[in-house]
Amino acid sequence: MKANLWISAMLVAAACAGCGHRKASAPALQAKAAGTAIVVASGDKQLGSPGSQLPQPLVLQVNDDQGNTVTGAKVQISGPRGVVFDPAQVLTDDNGQATFKVTLGGISGRYELTASSQDAHGKTFTLTVAEFAAGYQQEVGYEVNQKYCSRCHNPDSTTEQVSNYDNLAVKPHSFSSGEVYNKFSDADLATVISHGGPAMNRSSLMPPYGWTLDKAEMQAVIAYIRLVSDPPYVVPGVVYGKH
Ligand code: HEC
Repeated sequence: MKANLWISAMLVAAACAGCGHRKASAPALQAKAAGTAIVVASGDKQLGSPGSQLPQPLVLQVNDDQGNTVTGAKVQISGPRGVVFDPAQVLTDDNGQATFKVTLGGISGRYELTASSQDAHGKTFTLTVAEFAAGYQQEVGYEVNQKYCSRCHNPDSTTEQVSNYDNLAVKPHSFSSGEVYNKFSDADLATVISHGGPAMNRSSLMPPYGWTLDKAEMQAVIAYIRLVSDPPYVVPGVVYGKH
């Protein structure tokens, strides 16, 4: 692997030796304009496999303080060890957007990526987005969610799936709502999912899945809920400073 990388790096260098283009000596991307804020256009909160490229690119947009898009602003992106960006810095295009292909690290879990840019005074502003690397169990949980849950729990309709959310008299929460789901223990989640809303004093619009899902699928969908939770779910464990 490493050797191959070196060889291709050398080939690129050799190919460019005579061309004298800016690419030959890496960075030096010069911003042509400056904004004041970075916002997400698309591609945050995606689920991918550990070590693989996310299905969609992460598209960020730079705005000025009027909320207009800025073309030619430099955006840099960084993340935890093992995450690879292509490119790692870029100037915003005609739509004010910076597009990054993201390859997640090899460990499953939540990855926080930080994009930064500079305003007209050279002051840095940043945006942090999350992406998720799903291990096998979480991937199974995602499939369960897609098959049974998301039509109610995800308010957004897609071409493949029209959401039922708007028709529900009691609105379920999106599984990323950490402020709701983090308060549930795994056992309580399993109770609601198996026996339906009334089992935990909730609406009967939440159907029981005890006959539909086997134990592994139940645990998988819980693992998925824990993975995508925002704020992140903290596994209950040792509480320091208490007796
Ligand atoms: C037919 C629509 C519907 C489907 C399908 C559905 N739910 Fe729900 N769910 C609800 C509603 C409505 C509530 C809110 C009940 C309340 O707050 O009283 C809810 C609540 C919950 C809760 C309690 C926390 C909260 O959001 O209030 C959990 C956990 C849950 N659902 C998990 C699931 C899982 C896992 C699936 C798929 C296996 C699923 N649900 C499928 C409608 C649905």
